[in-house]
Amino acid sequence: MNLCGRDFNQFAATPLDLLKSAPLQLFGNNMTPRKILVTSALPYANGSIHLGHLVEYIQTDIWVRFQKMQGHEVHYVCADDTHGTPIMLRAQNEGITPEQLIDRVWHEHKADFDGFNIEFDHYGSTNSEETKKFAQDIYRKLKANDLIEVKPVEQFFDPVKEMFLPDRFIKGECPKCHAKDQYGDNCEACGATYAPIELINPYSAVSGAQPERRSSEHYFFKLSDARCQEFLHGWTQGTLADQSTAPLQQEAANKMREWFEAGLSNWDISRDAPYFGFEIPDAPGKFFYVWLDAPVGYMGSFKKLCSQKGIDFDAYWNADSKTELYHFIGKDILYFHSLFWPAMLKFSGLRTPTQIFAHGFLTVNGEKMSKSRGTFITADSYLKQGLNPEYLRYYYAAKLNGTMEDIDLNLEDFTARVNSDLVGKYINIASRCAGFITKHFDGQLSSISNTGALIAIKESAPVIAKAYEERDFGRALREIMRLADHANADIAVAAPWARAKQEGHGARAELHLDCSGALEMFRLLTLYLKPVLPELAKAVESFLNIPELSWDSVNDTFTAGHQINAYQHLATRIDPKLIEAMTEANKQNLAPTIDSHSPSRHAEAKQSVIAPIAETISIDEFSKVDLRVAKIVNAEHVEGAEKLLKLTLDIGEANPRTVFAGIKSAYDPAKLVGRMTVMVANLAPRKMKFGLSEGMVLAASGDTPGLFILSPDVGSQPGMRIK
Ligand code: 2FM
Ligand code: ZN
Repeated sequence: MNLCGRDFNQFAATPLDLLKSAPLQLFGNNMTPRKILVTSALPYANGSIHLGHLVEYIQTDIWVRFQKMQGHEVHYVCADDTHGTPIMLRAQNEGITPEQLIDRVWHEHKADFDGFNIEFDHYGSTNSEETKKFAQDIYRKLKANDLIEVKPVEQFFDPVKEMFLPDRFIKGECPKCHAKDQYGDNCEACGATYAPIELINPYSAVSGAQPERRSSEHYFFKLSDARCQEFLHGWTQGTLADQSTAPLQQEAANKMREWFEAGLSNWDISRDAPYFGFEIPDAPGKFFYVWLDAPVGYMGSFKKLCSQKGIDFDAYWNADSKTELYHFIGKDILYFHSLFWPAMLKFSGLRTPTQIFAHGFLTVNGEKMSKSRGTFITADSYLKQGLNPEYLRYYYAAKLNGTMEDIDLNLEDFTARVNSDLVGKYINIASRCAGFITKHFDGQLSSISNTGALIAIKESAPVIAKAYEERDFGRALREIMRLADHANADIAVAAPWARAKQEGHGARAELHLDCSGALEMFRLLTLYLKPVLPELAKAVESFLNIPELSWDSVNDTFTAGHQINAYQHLATRIDPKLIEAMTEANKQNLAPTIDSHSPSRHAEAKQSVIAPIAETISIDEFSKVDLRVAKIVNAEHVEGAEKLLKLTLDIGEANPRTVFAGIKSAYDPAKLVGRMTVMVANLAPRKMKFGLSEGMVLAASGDTPGLFILSPDVGSQPGMRIK
């Protein structure tokens, strides 16, 4: 008896003689491979990749791998998003140039992506000559089309840093609930949103200085122009004559309609120097706002790939392009990709995207990612625990359905699902059967018999392909696991472990047929899982001794005598201890990012984190430092010194001390006079350009802007020792 004829009705499969069946249609009715350019959003070059980011890169990578397996010509590009104020300030804080910062972060990001098997065809940087040229060309075309206007804008200006302040870099008291230290655009205590000028007692989060209101000329993209309005309305709703597909998911198109009803205003695309970015042509001291050149980075990165591989760039970007262009993004940046970006492309004479695929946010254990709970998990920390990156790919794929709904990474469910589905169902097929082939048949397979389960598996190829195409990976995996159940049920009935103990030619033949059939089913399931689990699929290809699986490998079958390699462990169960260790590690490890508009990606960007604690010292070593309470009896600016204030400090000695302190960016000298602080009194005097410095005052600072001198409690007297 072989697997044929067993009860498979429970799996609702239809018997079919595969030899008579027509080959699968790979490209629908059209056998010409499609030409497809795919992008994922460009991560900012000032923070680590975390599991929230990975939802998108994993989603895109699975889709791209699926399309490549179909035989299409697909190019997947991405880049670091390197410009803007936060990156400029972070580099300053670290005492390095922005170029050094973005170079370092590029390597970190690339390593994280490689670690999760995200296979870009090119991973670039927006700080490239290509992106600069395209951004400037687009701008010139918009200008020639009379779609740029210049208008004065009044904004807060930091007189100490001599820069205009983005809203996120202004803090003050909430005008509604009076909570202190709230950001310039919204209050975290009461949730109110407002303009920075409404803040009470505003101060610069960069220097602590009181900001001034100043006006400067800004450059605007005239989105309110009737041509833009008309185009964008048609484009977002998919009603233009040259659109064969709706470019937006239904829920996104609805959102756009709401935004249209609220009215489209002109978009401010310039920022004043100092700014890390590209200068606007013929506008000295004016730079493109980071969001102007970010999507142009898609073009810049692709251009690099084209130069390396000899691909025709224009065929992908000309207005009459016949190729397909897809942007995978998070729903938080829909506005930029569905309005600004298509309008920039259209009115500079380029093609517009075929479709924008937006996904939802990631929650962990049902809540926003949190550093204190250890669920703000970096890509690097996941990998460092030795957790298999493909397990996360599998779990995300199981949760993704092509909509903008948020997805939850429940860490217990993650462990359970990987262990039960991936290891318990799929890997189990090979691990239960392969050993018999090696032991009893010298690693050679028999001919393959079309059992009900095998037929069901082959027949499901179009259903699974459709689910992948529609980015409903959850549906694809449910179908694959249903088929794995079917295969396992047949194996359980065949019980090769029992058959192997039976004597006789018949029993041996059945053992051979059953185990060979099981491995054929395993081969097909591997093919279906390959976009999600590319490394595991590679290991299976080598174990089964077969060429790289592509989608049309579904039409192949093992021939009698095919030699496989000995089975070696393909995947192990997740040990829940690793998950615990990972959340523990993330309670301490995450470096903060300073950012920007995107609450999901930067959910906890504002929380500060301590730098590594220095080496342990003995009490004797500590006692060598003579710390004293000091009264600031005078404080003044130092002519020619950018950062210093000259302080006169009374520590109870006959003559007060002079100390030059680098706190000018944070303090108005007049306000320091009379304050008590803490100084190191036995530091060797240092001769400086401006005079002798006889000690040091102590101040706190971190990765976030600001500098804070210490104050002893009320009642302390000048000269008291601190120990
Ligand atoms: O939101 C972000 O993280 C941006 N750096 C995304 C840019 S996507 C594209 F437009 F470049
Ligand atoms: Zn408030």
